[in-house]
Amino acid sequence: MTRDCTPVGSLSEPQSARFSPARQRGVFTPALTRTAPKVMILLLAIAAPAFPADQTPAEQGRAVYQKWCAPCHGTGLGKPGTAAATAHGAKPAVLEERTDLTPKMLETAVRKGESFMPRFRKTEVSNTELAAIVAYLTHK
Ligand code: HEC
Repeated sequence: MTRDCTPVGSLSEPQSARFSPARQRGVFTPALTRTAPKVMILLLAIAAPAFPADQTPAEQGRAVYQKWCAPCHGTGLGKPGTAAATAHGAKPAVLEERTDLTPKMLETAVRKGESFMPRFRKTEVSNTELAAIVAYLTHK
């Protein structure tokens, strides 16, 4: 009785069988490896928009204002911006209640700071977010 002792994948196996395309059909085919990073970047770009698409600029501005400005300019006690404005008689002291704020005033205050209000970098409040704050506080 003869036994075939040739181990699988030995050199006696024909080249065409050892390097057949079927062997490359794993999860990470070269084509997928090439496109996956691009797909990931595309998904990230879609998944992380600056704002929800259905919000108006003023609504977007309200959210940014709540995060960055309300702690100092909101209503209630212990709000430094509101307290400072009250102290020198600016009325109303809460920014949201004012009707005299111009885009220029807001942009200058946010980018350069005012009194002990810090200036905000574009990595904190982007230009898009600043424009949204302007829309919100100028009631546009
Ligand atoms: C750390 C507290 C603080 C934060 C945070 C802050 N401010 Fe201020 N802001 C102040 C103070 C204090 C003043 C000076 C108020 C005064 O003297 O009337 C001021 C002044 C201003 C003024 C000028 C008002 C005027 O009457 O001329 C504007 C506009 C303003 N802030 C907008 C903003 C916006 C928009 C944000 C959010 C991006 C913000 N501030 C965040 C503290 C803050």
